[in-house]
Amino acid sequence: MEVIRSVKDMQHISNRLKKEGKSIGFVPTMGYLHEGHLSLVRRARNENDVVVVSIFVNPIQFGPEEDYARYPRDEKRDLSLLEGLADFVFIPDVKDMYEEGFVTYVDVEKITTHLCGAFRPGHFRGVATVVLKLFNIVKPDRAYFGKKDYQQFRVIERMCRDLNLEVEIVPCETVREKNGLAMSSRNVYLSKEEFEDAGIIYKALSYGKSLIEGGERDSKSVISKIENMIREKPTLKKIDYIAIVDPMTLEDVKTIKGPVVILFAGYFGTARLIDNVEVML
Ligand code: PAJ
Repeated sequence: MEVIRSVKDMQHISNRLKKEGKSIGFVPTMGYLHEGHLSLVRRARNENDVVVVSIFVNPIQFGPEEDYARYPRDEKRDLSLLEGLADFVFIPDVKDMYEEGFVTYVDVEKITTHLCGAFRPGHFRGVATVVLKLFNIVKPDRAYFGKKDYQQFRVIERMCRDLNLEVEIVPCETVREKNGLAMSSRNVYLSKEEFEDAGIIYKALSYGKSLIEGGERDSKSVISKIENMIREKPTLKKIDYIAIVDPMTLEDVKTIKGPVVILFAGYFGTARLIDNVEVML
């Protein structure tokens, strides 16, 4: 496993691998790796000749009031987790990714206005921009994204289609803690009690799913039942949204007639947590 710290070096390596006819599987991350990230890396390992993982806490996807400065980082631990799984770990620094004078951004419209886009202005612009840059540097055949960040996965998929990128976007299932909480680097912000309370998110979303599978068609009624369950937990600080949306457009669905996604975003203590479940009808 080789650690690459410069954009130029990474580009040279990718160009060489392409010339050799190797397929490249790519897992972009912000580090502080957990089993969720590693499940993506393992899948990339199975499906490609070469696996590249990037670790880059991307400043332009954090709002001014958000947790960029305190976002957890532990490069040593990350590298030991990736040993034997990744071939290259790309760890650029901020100045190399965003040179002085940087002014070009990718704006994916419409599907970024709702859900997290509404609560985190500029977030998806930052995500789309860094992912396109990373794709241009790493030149992957396939890139692996977790469905935990459902809107992010759809935004990247849309960007690739709209800009004719020849990268296959591979969505991967959410890996969870024993109590159902979706694994996240941000879970380190949770106290023991908050961690236990936050297990309600997945339980409530799954309950919503079972209501729909049992014949309920009114989103408002499902959402209010989910909300009541989650509000019972004393360490819940704030709900940003609970929504039932179309899986492709991410627009709200009032009367459920086909497949939908139920999504939650909110705070337990100071940790902003997101999760979702898909309902196939
Ligand atoms: P990060 O939060 O580190 O997540 C990296 C990838 O791991 C994302 O595709 C995310 O959906 C996936 N992931 C996180 N938790 C997961 C879980 N519990 N189960 C399955 N997959 C999970 O998402 C980002 O970084 C950044 O926005 C990035 C795409 C790297 C751009 O900066």
